[in-house]
Amino acid sequence: MNYIGSKYSLLSFLEEGITKNAGADCEVFCDVFAGTGVVGSHFKQKGFNIIANDIQYYAYCLNRALVGINRMPTFAGVLNDLKLAPTTLFHNAVDIVLDHLNTLKGKPGFIYRNYCPEGTARSQFKRQYFSDENGMRCDAIRMQIEDWRLAGKLTEDEYFYLLASLIEATDRVANTASVYGAFLKQVKKSARKPLHLARHAIVEGDENHEIHNANGQQLVENLSCDVLYMDPPYNHRQYCANYHVLETIARYDAPNLRGVTGLRPNDDQKSDFCMKKRALPALEKMIKKTSARYVFLSYNSEGIMGKDEILQTMGQYGQVDLLTRDYQRFRADIDRENRIYKSDRVEEYLFCSKKG
Ligand SMILES: C[S@@+](CC[C@H](N)C(=O)[O-])C[C@H]1O[C@@H](n2cnc3c(N)ncnc32)[C@H](O)[C@@H]1O
Repeated sequence: MNYIGSKYSLLSFLEEGITKNAGADCEVFCDVFAGTGVVGSHFKQKGFNIIANDIQYYAYCLNRALVGINRMPTFAGVLNDLKLAPTTLFHNAVDIVLDHLNTLKGKPGFIYRNYCPEGTARSQFKRQYFSDENGMRCDAIRMQIEDWRLAGKLTEDEYFYLLASLIEATDRVANTASVYGAFLKQVKKSARKPLHLARHAIVEGDENHEIHNANGQQLVENLSCDVLYMDPPYNHRQYCANYHVLETIARYDAPNLRGVTGLRPNDDQKSDFCMKKRALPALEKMIKKTSARYVFLSYNSEGIMGKDEILQTMGQYGQVDLLTRDYQRFRADIDRENRIYKSDRVEEYLFCSKKG
């Protein structure tokens, strides 16, 4: 996913900085602003026990699948329902279930009625986040996943595996400039392709990993970990506003929508890290409250907290090293088209501290 602040391309930088600074005896790694889950899954592969958390439910679903699942699902209950013999080849089972969902007939549900041109044609606000066909496909698949769950045909792992696949698939065909703060007036090429569920990556393993959907600022004091990795929002763009459609697909809770973009209520998901006056005090509280011996913060040179004030704040709790890397800035398609940005490069920071 082209996610604001994704660390996908910075994993080797993070690994280098974290393994160099954290003691070899560290076992539990907490990714408290987990987003797409790429950091947690990377450190899961490196042998850590992972605690992943995000305030957004769609991010919880992605992490629940990518980090929380240890074995490829077998989908025994669903295969039974489809009158197919349970297969011992788990890869086949996943393909069979995804094929079934991919060939369902579309249904006019909440996504079609609120985010598609035909579905909103007679409403006050006309929206074009998805083609009509893809909106109905998304609804049909989402309803089927929920029906299977309610009928007890899916394990919890299987449920989140399918939800994560659906979140990624709908994001690939969204008619947006990467984020959901607005939809495009013209339907872009990728949004014309049919929504198609693909296999969701999982990292096989044996340990139990904890996944949470909470405000990290409060959660942190109740977690026991060796390493606390913090990758908070770095500017005023709230994730709840920029990914609200994915949140609604994940929850499928028919919220009251408002305005041109069909925003769901989100007051309880607004992050202090997107507010100039609140970000630094929030950071300090988290560092103070954590039981982790090692604290790492990803940030960049364009964030609302300044490098020196972060060094000063973290420095109160232990010695801090700062690693930097020149990096390609996050770019929504619309920024590229309108060239509203200043420069292409940004300096990525990794603050490394040992609490003492
Ligand atoms: C920079 S992104 C993290 C990106 C992630 N490291 C990745 O590579 O995908 C910041 C994340 O923090 C989450 N977030 C913001 N405020 C939060 C809070 N107070 N508690 C928990 N999560 C929060 C957002 O929903 C978003 O997913």
